[in-house]
Amino acid sequence: MSLPKRYLITSALPYANGLKHVGHLAGAYIPADIYARYLRAQKRDVVFVCGSDEHGTAIPIQATKEGTTPRAIIDKYHEAMKQDFEDLSMSFDIYHRTSEPIHHETAQEFFTYLHERGELETKETEQYYDEEAKTFLADRYIKGTCPNCGSDRAFGDQCENCGRTLSPDELINPVSTLSGKAPIKKKTSHWYLPLGKHEEFLREWILKEHKDDWRPTVVGQCKSWIEGGLQSRAVTRDLDWGIKVPLQDAEGKVLYVWFDAPIGYVSATKQWAIDNNKEWEPYWYDQDTKLVHFIGKDNIVFHCIIFPIMLKLHGNILPTNVPANEFLNLEGDKMSTSRNWKLDMRDYINDFVEKENGGGQAVDMLRYYLTQIAPETKDSEFMWKGFQDAVNSELGNIFGNFVNRTWVLMHKLCGGKVPKLHEDVLVEDDKWIISEIENAKSKVENLLEEYKFREALFEVIDLSRKGNQYMQKKEPWIVAKQLAENPEAQKSIDNTMHLCLQLSANLAILINPFLPNTAKKMLGMMKVVEKMLDWENAGKLKLLSVGYALRAPELLFRKIEDEEIKYQVEKLKSGLVKPETTTAKVEESKSEVANLKPEIIFDDFAKIDLKVGTIVTAEKVEKADKLLKLSVDLGFETRTIVSGIALHFKPEEIVGKQVVVVANLAPRKMRGIESNGMILMAEDKEGKLHFVAPSTVINPGAGVS
Ligand code: 2FM
Ligand code: ZN
Repeated sequence: MSLPKRYLITSALPYANGLKHVGHLAGAYIPADIYARYLRAQKRDVVFVCGSDEHGTAIPIQATKEGTTPRAIIDKYHEAMKQDFEDLSMSFDIYHRTSEPIHHETAQEFFTYLHERGELETKETEQYYDEEAKTFLADRYIKGTCPNCGSDRAFGDQCENCGRTLSPDELINPVSTLSGKAPIKKKTSHWYLPLGKHEEFLREWILKEHKDDWRPTVVGQCKSWIEGGLQSRAVTRDLDWGIKVPLQDAEGKVLYVWFDAPIGYVSATKQWAIDNNKEWEPYWYDQDTKLVHFIGKDNIVFHCIIFPIMLKLHGNILPTNVPANEFLNLEGDKMSTSRNWKLDMRDYINDFVEKENGGGQAVDMLRYYLTQIAPETKDSEFMWKGFQDAVNSELGNIFGNFVNRTWVLMHKLCGGKVPKLHEDVLVEDDKWIISEIENAKSKVENLLEEYKFREALFEVIDLSRKGNQYMQKKEPWIVAKQLAENPEAQKSIDNTMHLCLQLSANLAILINPFLPNTAKKMLGMMKVVEKMLDWENAGKLKLLSVGYALRAPELLFRKIEDEEIKYQVEKLKSGLVKPETTTAKVEESKSEVANLKPEIIFDDFAKIDLKVGTIVTAEKVEKADKLLKLSVDLGFETRTIVSGIALHFKPEEIVGKQVVVVANLAPRKMRGIESNGMILMAEDKEGKLHFVAPSTVINPGAGVS
């Protein structure tokens, strides 16, 4: 099979709405980086692109949360993510951003192209509209009760409590998060990509052509999408943050973030070409380009169904493969930003990388572990103990130990120089290790070509394991003791050390795509230039010249101590935000004094209208021990409020008292009386209630914030 002329490797563009965690790193970035580094070592023409995804509702929502503008959010997180990737040795040829004008133009051109050729449909539908904020509501801006689990904090696109994907119409009692009011339904029209029209193409292309070379998990997901019936997908939204729809009659409409984001790969390539004085077109139009998208499984439909349809219609090439990864869990639980159950790249960098004195040792330790547990076929687990074992036992005791022993013994038994290989006295063990060195290249290569990064890395470590076995069998330190009576024994020592050194050079080449910092350190120990790491040198036995003086060994991997692991696990557990309690669990959480409710955004708080009121009358409610019926002067009106405080206060005691009232609480009937609000109370340790009130008497109706 002939090799493709060029490669375009993409990693999913992360949303610029927050820092990314190691689950993301394991899913879409490290494997892509390994692949790109491997191809570069093969001297292939490869461009590896990534960048920040800066549109979609996630951005303005984060801006509200942080009390700032969407622009400030993308600037902040774009820089932060870029730095994180750099600090973890990601070798993107460009890390671009979708807020750049070149991207806006590229995405608009795509839309126009499809629109002019009649490939998009327009449809009028009814969507939720906030009359007060005068805007249509994106799914994320609608909250309500989940029809599945009953949580009253479900969003219009998903319930974060039970994880169910929702549409706004499924929410019970929907409310706009912008105004807190119930939204109305209003007509709006949008442009749709009719996926159904392309069913035959998808069946042919994915389910036949790629049924064997794409991952079964990917083909399986595509199959269920195709067989579930492909609906038309809206490619525009009513939103004021995003890329404007390039049409006259499209005021207030932007491209849907999932329409523009993958086009970000194209615009990044364009920008890379400008920066490097190259042509970008062949990477997107020439059939001899191999396009590979690295993503997490939640992005499969966009990269395997929607974007390919767009590419086909636009005359571009299609991806050759989309090696999507499953999810990475952390310490036995799903990684989650909202629950703060995660390990951010930045936290790892702060705790491990920045504490080290350069050299990238800690970077490679993480890259190693994340590759070793890569969720290629099913979800996998990041366990801090597993990280420690992987670093100490495999990297340290196997790979690092082999290289270190080789160097120490070479200095001790061979004067610090590469000894000769005496072909005349080669023994079986020597021949065995020679064949292992020669075979390793194709084993690793075949696995990398099939995106089996875990297994490929295993083969590299296995080669070093064999190196240790070989050394153990040949025991050059024992042979050295016989030298006095048998000077010929030096030949055996030379052969052992010669082969161990050539094996080390091979290990440097093979480990380079995975652990580039380690490979570089080994180059230093070997006193050779980077060129030695060219992939074509793997499997060769004459990489280090006889007589060449090598440097002293350097420690490749330090040990991870028990305390470090303990600290990380404790840190993780102490930072956990408990998931929302369901009805059954409410009682339990009440007894946990320190237990805070899950974090809310400012918007949630701002929806509550608190007012100072004065109790004007109070009386007991018949047949209800706990209830008092109050009338409360709120300045603009006097309200009836039923409050469960009868066991704590006599009616006559509280007349004239000032209180704080939740003034916009929906009316509720209690014992036949309609209650219009709620009085805020504080409960002390003994369970006694106290009014929450201003410290001095003020005008009723005053706002509380
Ligand atoms: O899921 C995400 O984080 C998206 N921002 C990925 C986009 S990938 C591509 F289409 F840009
Ligand atoms: Zn739910």
